[in-house]
Amino acid sequence: MDIEFNDSLSADAPRLVARLVEQGKLPDDLPRASKEGAEASRFTGKAGQVFETFVEQGDKVQRLALVGMGKKKDHAALERAGSSLTAKFLTSGEKALAIDVAASGLDADETAAVLLGVRLRSWRWDEYRTKLKDEQKRSLKTVVVAGAPDGTEAKWDDAAAVAKGVEFTRELVAEPANVIYPQSFVERCQKRFEGTGVEIQVLDEDEMRTLGMGALLGVGQGSRRDSKLLVIKWNGGAASAKPTVFVGKGVTFDTGGISIKPAAGMEDMKWDMGGAGAVAGAMLALASRKAKANVVGVCGLVENMPDGNAQRPGDVVKTMSGQTVEVINTDAEGRLVLGDAMTWAQREFKPETLIDLATLTGAMIVALGHEYAGLFSNDDKLSDKLTKAGTTSGDKVWRMPLGPAYDKLIDSPIADMKNVGGRWAGSITAAQYLQRFVEKGVNWAHLDIAGMAWADKPGATWDKGATGYGVRLLDQFIRDTAEG
Ligand code: BES
Ligand code: MN
Ligand code: ZN
Repeated sequence: MDIEFNDSLSADAPRLVARLVEQGKLPDDLPRASKEGAEASRFTGKAGQVFETFVEQGDKVQRLALVGMGKKKDHAALERAGSSLTAKFLTSGEKALAIDVAASGLDADETAAVLLGVRLRSWRWDEYRTKLKDEQKRSLKTVVVAGAPDGTEAKWDDAAAVAKGVEFTRELVAEPANVIYPQSFVERCQKRFEGTGVEIQVLDEDEMRTLGMGALLGVGQGSRRDSKLLVIKWNGGAASAKPTVFVGKGVTFDTGGISIKPAAGMEDMKWDMGGAGAVAGAMLALASRKAKANVVGVCGLVENMPDGNAQRPGDVVKTMSGQTVEVINTDAEGRLVLGDAMTWAQREFKPETLIDLATLTGAMIVALGHEYAGLFSNDDKLSDKLTKAGTTSGDKVWRMPLGPAYDKLIDSPIADMKNVGGRWAGSITAAQYLQRFVEKGVNWAHLDIAGMAWADKPGATWDKGATGYGVRLLDQFIRDTAEG
């Protein structure tokens, strides 16, 4: 979406003009027919409501959209307003849309929130849809922001950097697994990060073998695609400041391995790299807005396939930490990947704070559905900060418990641990596994985003499909902590 700024609604402004309306405050300068039309349609200005009308203006007809922004005009409501507006007109045939900010009474901050909703909701991935009918194609390409107060453009530049990150995550997540696999994930990032000032490092299988990452490599050994560890470094903070480290699960496809998944719905497992996707998108957001913080993103990239070389249930693997794992179920692969990636990241960067993101367990969706990601942490302060960043950004998290009684469930008779607990508390036993890879003094949080990376129906600022969950959360967390 091209977003342009104009001092006022000029004579050559687009035909389609939007005005934002506070709940219960229908503008009094509307023509009678429009006012009665809005009332008759039960348009009250609730957040996200859109009412469309046509108004004669001299020798022209204006297509006027009234968009509700609710009573409180909070960020979420303003984003919803921008998002609903876009959803309504994205394929309407209109190429351009003007937002009459002056008539909507928005300040710079509020305008930027509306624009963020507009931009996020306009994202689609039509790369492989060669036979779309005209009326299915996106028409809306330009938004003219008219009469926005001073300072809006700077606010928007900042928000647009975050939008860019969210979009990149969505792209990585939406791409099928024959397109995005470990090597191509790396290449897509190398290309996207050109000129952003980040430093990229890639570890290949030989290097990981030398480092002793037997668990991560075990997951990838049944695949023709080589596993990779991708490291994205952004140094925008003081040279002396320890980096915050994000680690993402990047299983580019999860068949389950020899413990193979049922066929129905297996295609969803192309988005089992949603954690790594969120980490890459967050790094892009931070670099694009030149965040004053040192942050490292580590993506553990593997494909979990069942072939003649695949690991078997019962295999014992040795992790980089030195601990051994009995692989009871090859479908509990995410934790095997993350454990080694976390060990490497902690030894390499000595972070105070380590946050991992993963589409780790189906049990997480059973527990929290698609409203909150599960948060597990060994530190109350970190947990509170993430919860707060979740509320501010809209990427919500809900804290779940950890404890020794759960930890016992993953003890193994033959190795230091097994990679699954029993039937119950599956998300917690997965988190307990990860906690065994947290080194002394490190504040750690694990976000199980299995219910959040993908949506089967449109939501607040996304269409169905890849949501980009996690980017805004991590960006907000860095704003509140390292930059706070
Ligand atoms: N990637 C899956 C978890 C998942 C399931 C994410 C559905 C998104 C939607 C993970 O690797 C997995 O297979 N987990 C197993 C763990 C079990 C074998 C202990 C699961 O959740 O069933
Ligand atoms: Mn699995
Ligand atoms: Zn998985």
